[in-house]
Amino acid sequence: MRFSLVASTLATCAWAAPPFPRINVLDTIPNNIRAISDYFNLLATKVQESKKLAAPPACDLSQVSLPEYARSSLPPPSPGLVLKHIAIGRGTQNYTCDPGAEKPRQTGAVATLFNASCTVATSPELASLLGHAALQFPLHQSLETQRLAPSNLAVSGVHFFTKDGAPWFDLDVSPLWKMGGIVGAKNTSAQAPETAAKGLGGEPAVPWLKLVAKESTGGLQEVYRIETVGGSAPQTCSGMPIGREFQVEYATQYWFYAKP
Ligand SMILES: *[C@@H]1O[C@H](CO)[C@@H](O)[C@H](O)[C@H]1NC(C)=O
Ligand SMILES: *[C@@H]1O[C@H](CO)[C@@H](O)[C@H](O)[C@H]1NC(C)=O
Ligand SMILES: *[C@@H]1O[C@H](CO)[C@@H](O)[C@H](O)[C@H]1NC(C)=O
Repeated sequence: MRFSLVASTLATCAWAAPPFPRINVLDTIPNNIRAISDYFNLLATKVQESKKLAAPPACDLSQVSLPEYARSSLPPPSPGLVLKHIAIGRGTQNYTCDPGAEKPRQTGAVATLFNASCTVATSPELASLLGHAALQFPLHQSLETQRLAPSNLAVSGVHFFTKDGAPWFDLDVSPLWKMGGIVGAKNTSAQAPETAAKGLGGEPAVPWLKLVAKESTGGLQEVYRIETVGGSAPQTCSGMPIGREFQVEYATQYWFYAKP
C-alpha cells in the first residue's frame, strides 16, 4: 500500500487526506483493507497524473452523465434539468422489527452529505472507491471533522426523513454553498448491481433510486441515489430486537438535478 503518497499536496478537488484518520479495524478486516488500499492506490495514481497537468482539473458538471448501470435501470433525468451537485452520503439506514413482523421495516435514514462534485467530474472511479473506503472509517470521525474520512471532502448538506416519512435533502447547511432543499418521492428503484460493495456487516447494498420533488427550493427537481455501499436490513427479524429502531451504516452518491 502506498499510504505515504497521500501526504502529497494536491492543490484541487479536496483529494488530500485529513491527518491520521482512524479505521474500523474490528470489522471484516480483509475487505476493509482491500477497499481502503484500492482507494489510496488509485488516489496515488491520480496525484501523480495531476502533477503533469499545467492547470488544475476542471470541475465542470455539464459534461457528467450517470453511470451505465443507472442509465439502463432508472429513467433519465427529465428534459431541461441540469446536474447541479453530487454528494457522497455517509450515515445510517434505520429499521425496526414490529411485534410479529417477519421482516424489518424502514423507519428512516440519516446521512451527512459531502461535496464530491469535483471528484466525480474528474474521476468517477475514484469517487466510487471513496464511497466504499469511507464506510471503513468511523462515522463519528467524519462528523467531528466535517470532512469525509479518509478524504477531505467538505460537508454540503444533510439527509433525513420528514415526519411523514419522506426523504429530505437540505443543501443549505454549508456556509459556502446554498443550493436549496428537496423532499423527494420515489419514482423508480433498481436493485444495486451484482458488483456493489457490501456493508460493514456483509449486508448487500441498498437499491439505486430515482426520486422526484414533492416540494423543493433552489430549483432542485430530481435526486438519484447510486453507487450504494451496504445499508440493507437483515432478511428477517429473527434474532433482531423487537419494537426498537436499529441502524445499518451505508454510503452512497446522491446526484441532484435542478432547473437551470
Ligand atoms: C464543491 O467543491 C468544488 C471544489 O472541489 C467547488 O468548486 C464547488 O463549488 C463546491 N460546491 C458545489 C456545490 O459543488
Ligand atoms: C435514525 O438513526 C439516526 C442515527 O444515525 C438517528 O439520529 C435518527 O434519529 C434515527 N431516526 C430516524 C427516523 O431517522
Ligand atoms: C417515473 O417517472 C416517469 C418519467 O420519467 C413517469 O413516466 C412515471 O410515471 C414515474 N413513475 C412513478 C411511479 O412515479
